[in-house]
Amino acid sequence: MGSVRWAVRCGSWAPTRSDWLFAARCIQREEKDRIGQFVFAKDAKSAMTGRLLLRKFVNERMGIPWAEIRLERSPRGKPYLAAPLKVSPDSDPKPPAWSFNLSHQGDYAVLAAEQGMQVGVDIMKTTMPGSSSVPEFFRIMTRQFTVYEWSVIQSGGLEHQQLAAFYRHWALKESFIKAIGTGLGFNLQRVEFHLPSEPLTQKHVLRQTKMHLDEEEEDDWVFEESLLDADHHVAVALGPADNAASAPLCPTPPPPTSFTLLSFSDLIASASPLTEEDPAYWESFKMKAEAPQRQQETHTSK
Ligand SMILES: CC(C)(COP(=O)(O)OP(=O)(O)OC[C@H]1O[C@@H](n2cnc3c(N)ncnc32)[C@H](O)[C@@H]1OP(=O)(O)O)[C@@H](O)C(=O)NCCC(=O)NCCS
Repeated sequence: MGSVRWAVRCGSWAPTRSDWLFAARCIQREEKDRIGQFVFAKDAKSAMTGRLLLRKFVNERMGIPWAEIRLERSPRGKPYLAAPLKVSPDSDPKPPAWSFNLSHQGDYAVLAAEQGMQVGVDIMKTTMPGSSSVPEFFRIMTRQFTVYEWSVIQSGGLEHQQLAAFYRHWALKESFIKAIGTGLGFNLQRVEFHLPSEPLTQKHVLRQTKMHLDEEEEDDWVFEESLLDADHHVAVALGPADNAASAPLCPTPPPPTSFTLLSFSDLIASASPLTEEDPAYWESFKMKAEAPQRQQETHTSK
């Protein structure tokens, strides 16, 4: 069974003209157009990094030539490989299918992929709320978590600890929602996370957190939690594959893999251009402000 966990620190990426134009040539035209419409450079860079991560994964791990990869989105936005449909030679038994997912928030973009299991990933940076106090922010978010989860989140002493617990729970919930691909249509009160007493530390992947769905503990789902740095929580949800009836879930998932940090050179190492160079794409990118003023000023307070 294969596992891939990749992270790119796209927040500090300062692309040169040739980096940006080359990256734009290596993604599908509609994605290039979508990224071109972002107002802020930070969002354009994280979305671009996400597309390159997906294509690098499909190319290098699924063995599909870059130019043949056709990624599409489900009606709710989840990317999937639409072509080529046949990704492995005729063999019996067939290798388990890969599932993959992306997240970009804070300073990173991350990709998680798994063979034989359904995967969702979410990264969250612990930041102070921009326009309200922490208690007011929590009040606005009341319905996103259960009473039990709020008791855990608010049991931390300092506000920063409470926010870190909040974003940890958020990443867990989102990772599940992203694995099942439902997006906004899911009632978040149906899932409740139970954290182990073991602390989450950097350089260690924690796999003891349990999910309850409709008040029943879900043994089929595994959650891998890591800290990319002190402020960035990542959760990877691993569940039974969509076609679990034909390919049963492996009884014990492979040992947890920590995230490998990739550079821009790693990202484009196997890339090949799909479209012609478009100099106006750089002119438009270099005019963008990095991020909204408020985000540039927001610091975590510890
Ligand atoms: C897409 C969604 C599922 C996650 O978005 P997000 O957390 O803002 O953003 P992330 O960076 O983690 O993920 C974005 C990526 O997820 C992928 N994605 C988009 N829709 C998806 C879906 N329905 N399912 C899984 N993955 C999806 C895409 O690759 C997207 O990046 P791209 O558009 O650049 O390719 C979001 O629209 C959503 O519906 N979230 C639930 C909202 C909520 O109330 N959450 C509260 C949690 S407590």
